[in-house]
Amino acid sequence: MKNAIVTGVSRGLGEALAAALLERGLTVTGVGRRSSARLASERYRFVSCDLADAGAIEAALIPTLDAIAGLRSEYVCLVNNAATAEPVGVIGSMASDAIVASLTANLIAPLLLANLFCRVFRDTAQERRIINVSSGAAQSALPGGGAYSIGKAGLEMLTMQLVAEHGASTLKAISVRPGIIDTGMQQFMRSQSPKALPSLAMFQDFHASGQLVAPNVVAAKIADKLVLGEIEQGRTYLYKDL
Ligand SMILES: NC(=O)c1ccc[n+]([C@@H]2O[C@H](COP(=O)([O-])OP(=O)(O)OC[C@H]3O[C@@H](n4cnc5c(N)ncnc54)[C@H](OP(=O)(O)O)[C@@H]3O)[C@@H](O)[C@H]2O)c1
Repeated sequence: MKNAIVTGVSRGLGEALAAALLERGLTVTGVGRRSSARLASERYRFVSCDLADAGAIEAALIPTLDAIAGLRSEYVCLVNNAATAEPVGVIGSMASDAIVASLTANLIAPLLLANLFCRVFRDTAQERRIINVSSGAAQSALPGGGAYSIGKAGLEMLTMQLVAEHGASTLKAISVRPGIIDTGMQQFMRSQSPKALPSLAMFQDFHASGQLVAPNVVAAKIADKLVLGEIEQGRTYLYKDL
């Protein structure tokens, strides 16, 4: 039996990835504020958790992680997918609590989940993977997208840290920058004012020039190449690598 834990399954890439993994026979645990009717399956369960509420994460997840560990399956994979692009705004214009919520959902929650994952799944006979869904924004500063970029840069360091500390075992960690996907997140960026998001034209151009890829297409590639395929320890995969 193969188990996957995927955050942010209500829509977008996370929903499509959870569906792709169910289609491929995995048992899937979705984590987030809402689930999706598309994921109905005997092999699917959902843990309700607001990942911007750091204090609630451990209590929400531990019973389910312990239950998965008790199954002694041959393979378990955590996909840190959930993220928010809010707040958009240049530094100097954002509300403090919105910055905290962004970095909690996009960076602190993945670190807390990785920490719990490494604590609970200790069996080195089991193949264990952590896949951090990053973005090109991790290495490019986009005016108006600072809170998001800073979180993604930190998320890629989480991958590197996991490899430095656990990489000699059967635990593998990678980052993936999944490309430009036709989801609510891109729609949200296109709907901003140029004042809040000085890099607005780039997002409008992605759409106008037909560069957006359907979430099901990206999800199938991630499922086959990164969740189920052979992966290179610590690598940052780009869409063109998939
Ligand atoms: N779309 C792109 O072009 C693109 C490009 C590069 C990287 N990415 C990355 O790909 C991943 C998926 O993005 P997407 O485009 O699918 O985004 P999306 O359509 O906006 O979906 C985001 C998902 O994250 C969940 N989420 C957000 N905040 C949460 C919170 N506080 N607690 C629990 N769940 C929360 C959302 O749940 P709710 O329904 O509850 O809000 C939703 O399920 C993200 O890591 C994103 O950074 C996307």
